[in-house]
Amino acid sequence: MKEGELVHLIDKKGKRYRILLKTGSSFSFTRGTISHDEIIGLEDGSVIKSAGGENLLIVRPTLAEYISKMRKGSQIIYPKDIAAILMLADIFPGAKVLEAGSGSGALTMALLRAVGKDGKVVSYERRKEFSEIARKNIETFFGKVESTGKEHSGELILKDKDVYEGIEEKELDRIILDLQEPWRVLKHIEQSLRNGGILLCYNPTVLQIYKLSKRLELRYPRSFRVMSIYEVGMRGWEIKGRSMRPEHKMIAHTGFIFVARKIQN
Ligand SMILES: C[S@@+](CC[C@H](N)C(=O)[O-])C[C@H]1O[C@@H](n2cnc3c(N)ncnc32)[C@H](O)[C@@H]1O
Repeated sequence: MKEGELVHLIDKKGKRYRILLKTGSSFSFTRGTISHDEIIGLEDGSVIKSAGGENLLIVRPTLAEYISKMRKGSQIIYPKDIAAILMLADIFPGAKVLEAGSGSGALTMALLRAVGKDGKVVSYERRKEFSEIARKNIETFFGKVESTGKEHSGELILKDKDVYEGIEEKELDRIILDLQEPWRVLKHIEQSLRNGGILLCYNPTVLQIYKLSKRLELRYPRSFRVMSIYEVGMRGWEIKGRSMRPEHKMIAHTGFIFVARKIQN
């Protein structure tokens, strides 16, 4: 664990505390205090005792854990859907991907990891305040956006742009839209997505999905083929002694995942 690194401390009940390690600082909670200096230099997965005698597990958060706890400007895509999106959009190492809008940057981060250091993610966002939040979230996890594309992630370009007005990039492998009116982008996608490329749209309501598929069918029958529409359900389980059962609460409907392919016309 290094100075400047983000770590999660987990108590015996599973409650998480998020801290950014800083020499000389300390972290206090109801059952004690721990100085950051005691954590710096430890290995990921270490256990430390607070001054109040409570054992805390110290871990580097996974991307899903990080996303769940990070600052949100807009509604994010939940990790359960992000996992499916990576597979259904077939995001591969070296891929050139365009995403809109960046929102809080949750999907952007997963894309960046999946395209690897030879890949590229361009993310459009029309609201400056959201692109600032996305940038901060991404930089806390990956380091400066300007230095992405080296070790653990693809190159990232954040653009303060309205995707309804056009897409500058060409020959994209994948385009992923998480915004209200994806049908307004189709005319630009037709020019920017390579043949065989995948368009994936994520939308919460069935009316949006209906309008999108009708628009594709009526105006772009020779440019796109609709492949699939899914929604993803994931239910957690609890194990407490002899009680093993599904959790009482679950995230039910979030969004539909709509997948189409660009065809040569
Ligand atoms: C639901 S949020 C995206 C959340 C993001 N996928 C995440 O996981 O954090 C939708 C975002 O799209 C942006 N947006 C809406 N229309 C847009 C457009 N025409 N061009 C660019 N961004 C747009 C909004 O400002 C908002 O930040």
